[in-house]
Amino acid sequence: MTATYPLLEAGDVVDYLRRCGLDRLLGDGRAEVRDVTGGNMNRVFVARAGGRGVAVKQAPPWVQVAGPDWPASPDRIAAEARAYGYLAGLVPDIVPVVHAFDASSYVLVMEDLSDLRVLRDVLVEGVGAAAAGTAAPGEPDAVGLGEAVGRFVGELTFATSDLTMTAAERAALTAAAVNPDLCQLTLDVLLDEPYRPHEHNRFDPALRADVEAMYADDALKVAVSELRSVFRSRAEALIHGDLHTGSVMVGRRDGAAAVKVFDPEFSFVGPIGFDLGLWWANLAIAAAAARASGRTDLADARQAAVRASWDAFERVWRSRWPSRVDTAFADGYLDSWLARIRREAVGFAGIEAVRRVAGYSHAADLTTLPDDVRVPAQRRVLRAAVRWITEHAAATSAADLPNVPTEEP
Ligand SMILES: Nc1ncnc2c1ncn2[C@@H]1O[C@H](COP(=O)(O)OP(=O)(O)OP(=O)(O)O)[C@@H](O)[C@H]1O
Ligand SMILES: [Mg+2]
Repeated sequence: MTATYPLLEAGDVVDYLRRCGLDRLLGDGRAEVRDVTGGNMNRVFVARAGGRGVAVKQAPPWVQVAGPDWPASPDRIAAEARAYGYLAGLVPDIVPVVHAFDASSYVLVMEDLSDLRVLRDVLVEGVGAAAAGTAAPGEPDAVGLGEAVGRFVGELTFATSDLTMTAAERAALTAAAVNPDLCQLTLDVLLDEPYRPHEHNRFDPALRADVEAMYADDALKVAVSELRSVFRSRAEALIHGDLHTGSVMVGRRDGAAAVKVFDPEFSFVGPIGFDLGLWWANLAIAAAAARASGRTDLADARQAAVRASWDAFERVWRSRWPSRVDTAFADGYLDSWLARIRREAVGFAGIEAVRRVAGYSHAADLTTLPDDVRVPAQRRVLRAAVRWITEHAAATSAADLPNVPTEEP
């Protein structure tokens, strides 16, 4: 297939910005354009001149790393623009500023975040530094990090839920925010393929017996089906949809810690627990990687971000609940609402952790570990993940949040 709109190359970006009247966002002098495409799905460039810059993200009509043989609707970038539209009014400190969205070329022009670093890279480097006996460079304060992401999920979901919107507004949002291609991708690569032999799946050969045991586990398949059904049917709020540590940047700005959540291209009206679960799984994996490297202190700090994000999420919901628009929801319903979201989030954490060990897209936190500790760490994550899935319905308190134990029982 070919694209029906021009795909940008680095050499086109400045002209493109000029044509859109956005070159005013660059400073004076010659502009430098860097291709920073680092993910699987899209092209991303950073253009800078005279100390000022922008990021330009374009969705091709396929999965960027796979090329035209794996088509994917470029409408995903409209989903990203829509999510940012809500987020700008709710948590402007935690998202990049969007300067423009070009619906005909599927381009989003946004704040340049290159002074910050992708959280997963920082976490991976932190474990490497620990192994070398040096301090972890740029390791964010875990509690502040967890609080920021928990607040992000809390504010986005409360504002777009049945509590805050009328039934008509919710129906309109749900219809506008459909994202069928990327929802299908999630259904395939998270909620189907990792549980059966599939050409997309990759895993270390030493884990073959563990993975085959998973393929034969009927109770697990039932629990995965329950979560698949939740993903398909629970249209309860606008969610980010891909909230892992590669979708967060961290660093310092104006002397204070900065956290930015980006890349909400999988956004749709879905289950709130999906965002929390993906986030928790990736934190728990980063903690497990630190623990596997003998850095218990670093592991414990990272793990603390799981609880901090739940607490911040819960704080937002408890503080906003009295202002709900649909007052027919009883006061006392909030507790069971939160408990259900937490249970589902634990299940989705398991789904995310399984795919990071035995699915298509692995976690660099684990793959970069030295050979002798990598396989045991992946095995611990996989076994814990299976338990989070099969036992998620019994996760009744904040003490049951995902954590990869040091030793398997
Ligand atoms: N606003 C920005 N400023 C600076 N760099 C950015 C910005 N947005 C993205 N990047 C860089 O580009 C990379 C890819 O961005 P992003 O994750 O949005 O693309 P993607 O193709 O959707 O990725 P994925 O396949 O992981 O979903 C990021 O990891 C980051 O390094
Ligand atoms: Mg993406």
